[in-house]
Amino acid sequence: MTHSEILEWLREENPACIKALYARADAVRLDHVGDEVHLRGLVELSNHCRRSCGYCGLRAPHTRLRRYRLGRDQALACAREAVERGYGTVVLQAGEDPELSGPWVADLVRRIKGETGLAVTLSLGERTDAEYALWREAGADRYLIRFETSNEDLFRRIHPPHPRERRGRVAILRRLRELGYEIGSGSLVGLPGTSYADLARDVALYRELDLDMIGLGPFIPHGATPLGEVRPSRPGEEQAPNTEEMGYKMLALARLVCPDANIPSTTALAVLNEEKGYAAGLQRGANVVMPNLTPPDVRSLYEIYPAKAVVHGVGESVDALAQRIQAIGRCVGAGRGDSPRYRRANAAD
Ligand code: 5AD
Repeated sequence: MTHSEILEWLREENPACIKALYARADAVRLDHVGDEVHLRGLVELSNHCRRSCGYCGLRAPHTRLRRYRLGRDQALACAREAVERGYGTVVLQAGEDPELSGPWVADLVRRIKGETGLAVTLSLGERTDAEYALWREAGADRYLIRFETSNEDLFRRIHPPHPRERRGRVAILRRLRELGYEIGSGSLVGLPGTSYADLARDVALYRELDLDMIGLGPFIPHGATPLGEVRPSRPGEEQAPNTEEMGYKMLALARLVCPDANIPSTTALAVLNEEKGYAAGLQRGANVVMPNLTPPDVRSLYEIYPAKAVVHGVGESVDALAQRIQAIGRCVGAGRGDSPRYRRANAAD
């Protein structure tokens, strides 16, 4: 798809045409990754963060937020819970927390890999090459780090660099791929300062990076951040809206440009539409759901954006989730749910 074709879809307002886009994405999803919905248990290890991202509620200057960090045994218990629920993957996510040291994380990964058959996905922010390599050696399979926006000027403004980490996230993703990880990235939809053309370039970057996983969702303002007070954008403006619909359009386009990728129906969609968000995402290109396995007593503290922890879309009970998946004619995926690109590349070894 060309830049102008992508742009046209993003600006499309005719409901019948938008429906046709969703149907096409759904057909490509069926053709390439089938009807299986893979479940990844999400464990939010720590809400400590050394960064000051303008959009995120975990930013270091948000000093009113009570901080927590799970211990090794708590994290292991969450991984066991993933096994009991029949999930194929555990995702270990955290703010950029230096106390989650390279060796500590490596030890946790090794224990999970030793004890369970789970695929392990890490999402721990911008770390050193040595740490990425150590974790890969420990057995980590995948790494998620969203580039957030392909607009580099905007990214620099809302994401003050860390003094010792000056590489961009695209460079990090390329390095992670070299290390043998399945790589996941994505962007925020409707971040203040992004135009429609920026979103079209985000889609092109998914393609260019040939992502194994694409995570994206509408930007949801958080009151304790510099970007928390923005007014909602109006249709027709250059500013791309952070609406549910724009989220679905981006998801559908992501599926069209990366037909083999694993694409979650994200919590941000469920926050905007608690009743239908997850299912709608699955019907517009997504094939993954990430139920939250973070211990309930700290879950509300992982507040990247408001209401994130209170949606009960998924994860409450294994059966309820399976029923929701079956209700839309899909089935719960078996196994690890590796990306087809990754499986092909490894089969060739
Ligand atoms: N609204 C929606 N998503 C957000 N994220 C961070 N802040 C927000 C927000 N205010 C997303 C980022 C990050 C992921 C873990 O959460 O894309 O990579």
